[in-house]
Formats: sequence, C-alpha cells, structure tokens
Amino acid sequence: MHCKSPARARAAGQTFNLVKFRREDKDDADKNMNLPKKPWTVHFQPQDWMCETTDELSLLEAALLDGIRIPNSCRNGTCRTCMCKLVSGNIIYQIEWPGLSQEEKQDGWVLACVAQASSDVVIEVPAAVKI
Ligand code: FES
Repeated sequence: MHCKSPARARAAGQTFNLVKFRREDKDDADKNMNLPKKPWTVHFQPQDWMCETTDELSLLEAALLDGIRIPNSCRNGTCRTCMCKLVSGNIIYQIEWPGLSQEEKQDGWVLACVAQASSDVVIEVPAAVKI
C-alpha cells in the first residue's frame, strides 16, 4: 500500500521519505539541463558563404561570429540597415514588432539583427563583406 501523505504513511506504519528540494538544487538542475542547441546553417547569397547559428543567435550575430559583416546600425530592429531577403528557410523574431511592414514580411524581407533561424536558411545580402 502506498500512502500519499506523511501522516497517512505513519498511521499505516509505513515510512515516508520526504525529499526536500532547496532552491539551489533546482537552480543546479536548470543549469545542468544542457539542452542541445540546434545548429542551423545560414547560406549567404550571392557570395555563396556559409556560417552556423543556434537558437540563441540573431542572423547578424551568427554572421559576425563567422567573420561576415552584414550592414547594421541599431541592432534592435528599428533602423532597417540590416534588411535582407529570406530566400528559403524559416526565422523567428526576438522582438514583437520588428520594423517591417506586413507586405515586406510577406515579400521575404527580414531584419537580420533581430531574426533567428529556426531552420537552415538562405538569405540574400549583396552588401555583406568578409571581415
Ligand atoms: S541593425 Fe537596425 S534594424 Fe537591424
């Protein structure tokens, strides 16, 4: 017989192991989860360059880490300097209201500074340069 509470367990003559979790235990467990980051490939056209990205990087950050500079300025989705065309793949935005119109989004325009890949992507960035 299995009792659900310590009082019922004692009344039934059973021992009851009460496991207490400290806040630190939960924090450690959270840190140790180490869920794999999905590595996505970003393919730049027309240069035919590639870089890898993860769930946590914007397209701009991923490019910069791999020595590719996409024109940028504000890095917060407002100035539109980093605007590029998504040729294929899927992205998600790190902010709720990236500075693009609905028509621009439908036409495939994305803001690399606040867009993250959620699949392998191909983007058209003629002004990108190697640094
Ligand atoms: S750098 Fe300004 S919108 Fe991306």
